[in-house]
Amino acid sequence: MDLLQAIEIRVSDRTFTGMRLDAKLRFRLMDTLTLNGPFGTCPRTVLLDAAGLAVPDDAKAAAGESKGARIGTYGIVKSPAAYLAAMVRGRENDRLLFDLGYVVEGLVLEATGLGLGTCWLGGTFDKGKAAAAAGVGDGEALRALIAIGKPARTRGLLDRFIRNAAGSADRLPAEEIARARERDAVAAGLLHEPAVARMIEAVRRAPSASNRQPWRLVLARDEGGAILIDLYLARNDRYERLAGYGIQAVDGGIAARHVEVAANELGFLPERRFQAMEGTADPQGCGFIIGWRLFRR
Ligand SMILES: Cc1cc2nc3c(=O)[nH]c(=O)nc-3n(C[C@H](O)[C@H](O)[C@H](O)COP(=O)(O)O)c2cc1C
Repeated sequence: MDLLQAIEIRVSDRTFTGMRLDAKLRFRLMDTLTLNGPFGTCPRTVLLDAAGLAVPDDAKAAAGESKGARIGTYGIVKSPAAYLAAMVRGRENDRLLFDLGYVVEGLVLEATGLGLGTCWLGGTFDKGKAAAAAGVGDGEALRALIAIGKPARTRGLLDRFIRNAAGSADRLPAEEIARARERDAVAAGLLHEPAVARMIEAVRRAPSASNRQPWRLVLARDEGGAILIDLYLARNDRYERLAGYGIQAVDGGIAARHVEVAANELGFLPERRFQAMEGTADPQGCGFIIGWRLFRR
């Protein structure tokens, strides 16, 4: 299975069989975390076993000291094999959170391709215990846990409840997520090109906090004929205040990973283009973050 297929089949799993990860699987997963995000940073990550102990062969974990606390998820996650804890270091900002989303989604997609189930957790876990387990140090903030394991055949009660409450099976229509650049007749046709439609669908399938789907894409073509994609986020201040951090910047990084994976698998070379992130508003009122120029390989 390639990573675009993984995007297309992934759903969040919170009910697992209790199966452990063997060393080979752990290596495959942890190997995905060596890459930096688009803003040049990489979160610190620690792989914790189900008892909340850092897995001994995880070299990155050595930076902190695990106190081995049992991870609490209020009964939402059942019998996972492991959790990946992801921390931002230094003065927190949207770029660090965006990169965290981008980097860690690489592990989520790899896990999916290996037949494992995953669930991003940004809110519903005991922060104190998880921080102790991950050995969170000064100047660090634990921002996400990824539950990982072999998915059970049937979902637990709370898993089903959360899926229903978040409307996880639903997505906004593609037309609400992606549009052509305004007054650009050439760009209008782009949305219906099969490769472009599949890329939009890859973003649409992305996991997002409470399934709020804040990502927006604007498409155009440059003079040389290359496809241009800009990613914006329609963020909700109230929701993010409740979450206590810029959780939708994490959603943005996840979407960026999906754009690049899809572009690569569809035979494009995605060249990144950056614009001001904070404070800048596009006509729809979303801050512009990052874009790509896609060249045919
Ligand atoms: C950044 C982020 C944080 C999330 N936090 C939680 C969480 O705290 N608890 C939970 O049960 N699911 C959480 N989710 C999973 C979403 O609810 C899920 O991705 C969304 O409902 C879409 O469903 P799907 O992943 O099955 O496609 C989170 C997802 C993301 C991307």
